[in-house]
Amino acid sequence: MSATDMEKIVSLCKRRGFIFQSSEIYGGLASTWDYGPLGVELKNNVKRAWWRAVVYERDDMEGLDAAILMNRVVWRYSGHEDTFSDPLVDCRRCKNRMRADHLKDNRCPACGSSDLTEPRQFNLMFKTHVGPIEDDASIAYLRPETAQGIFVNFLNVQTTMRRKLPFGIAQIGKAFRNEITPGNFTFRTREFEQMEIEYFVKPGTDEDWHERWIEDRFNWYIRLGINPNNLRRYEQPKEELAHYAKRTVDIQYRFFPERKDEYSQWDELEGIANRTDFDLKAHSKSNPSNEHSTVDLTYFDQEINQHIVPYVIEPSAGADRATLAFLMDAYNEEIVNAEKQDKRVVLKLHKDLAPIKVAVLPLLRNRPEIVSLAKAIKKDLQPVMRVVYDDTGAIGKLYRRQDEIGTPFCVTVDVQSLEDNQVTVRDRDTMGQARIPIQGLKAYLIEQLQ
Ligand code: GAP
Repeated sequence: MSATDMEKIVSLCKRRGFIFQSSEIYGGLASTWDYGPLGVELKNNVKRAWWRAVVYERDDMEGLDAAILMNRVVWRYSGHEDTFSDPLVDCRRCKNRMRADHLKDNRCPACGSSDLTEPRQFNLMFKTHVGPIEDDASIAYLRPETAQGIFVNFLNVQTTMRRKLPFGIAQIGKAFRNEITPGNFTFRTREFEQMEIEYFVKPGTDEDWHERWIEDRFNWYIRLGINPNNLRRYEQPKEELAHYAKRTVDIQYRFFPERKDEYSQWDELEGIANRTDFDLKAHSKSNPSNEHSTVDLTYFDQEINQHIVPYVIEPSAGADRATLAFLMDAYNEEIVNAEKQDKRVVLKLHKDLAPIKVAVLPLLRNRPEIVSLAKAIKKDLQPVMRVVYDDTGAIGKLYRRQDEIGTPFCVTVDVQSLEDNQVTVRDRDTMGQARIPIQGLKAYLIEQLQ
């Protein structure tokens, strides 16, 4: 199955309450989005699945939740104040502003003119002031990556959790970049969420660990249902590498299948970088150019009886891009009955990611005994799974509605249920139906959802 045209996803997201334009009633704010009732469930499930895979299911990981605002000098020594910029050009004819490295044939994409200014570097960090006085001393930045919160807490985590190398720290949180050309729905925005790992290893073992993480992270997307044909590894050429990276391999997804040119169909979902000892050294007091740090971010290696600076492997994923990729890959349009020209849209999301796990539907909404039994079933299930009750249409319509948002199971309560204490459980993907005793329903659904 090929990835789906993004336009269809944008329309589904709006129609069914996944993602809305931010501040919509005031005309919106460019490339800023709000996750609606289903979107927040889906994105939370993506983050939960990531946390489970990289923290709970491993023996070598800890979690962290660092503040978004940090001391400004963090960004001086990390290199972001000097180098975290994109080349900006202006079109002299139509005044459009764009990234020089995204141009085709050096022409303005808005008006086609080649009369452009020379590129100048534009720093992507959002500046703000901490406290009531707006002067140089109060400048702070909204973090452009969550990674630095991990580096400056390296010793806190390592010593309090008594960790030995290799070990890693995982963090999920918001990051902000004043992108020159945001766009393509939630693909490139100015406010987004990252899921980052900094994995600390002994120097010399870094290349091996890098390979292992590339494989691990690639397989995570496949385990959660992404078609391997829509994923690929991309080796960043030297000129693309960030200032801190020795080598970076991106996991790319086919985000733009509608584009004619195969090369431009792919873009970054996650980057896995070998950051060497760049950041820990940069933040250490023994760094000759660092006048502010009070500690050396080193590790005492008992095997060689000396302090070393660990190397770092960084798998850095975007929660918004991952959510978008899961949506695009799950989207299917199926013919249910060719003669009747009956079609359905179905989101074949992995069960762990589905926003709603079960919908309880009464077959007849004007029969109080059926309605109250259906509501009682919903009440019984809701402490253990996300379940909804819906009686706002005929059963066929209700099934289609749940298919479109990816609900794995529908439970239908009918007249016979009142007599035999059984309900019909319908499977989203096969549309197969089974009669299940109400008494064993919860255990049955829990097992199916595992
Ligand atoms: N700490 C390393 C780092 O930040 P990055 O490649 O710049 O690396 C990591 O970002 C991930 O964050 C990307 O693979 C992407 O998924 C996500 N990301 C970056 N910029 C983004 C943006 N403007 N909008 C949405 N997601 C973004």
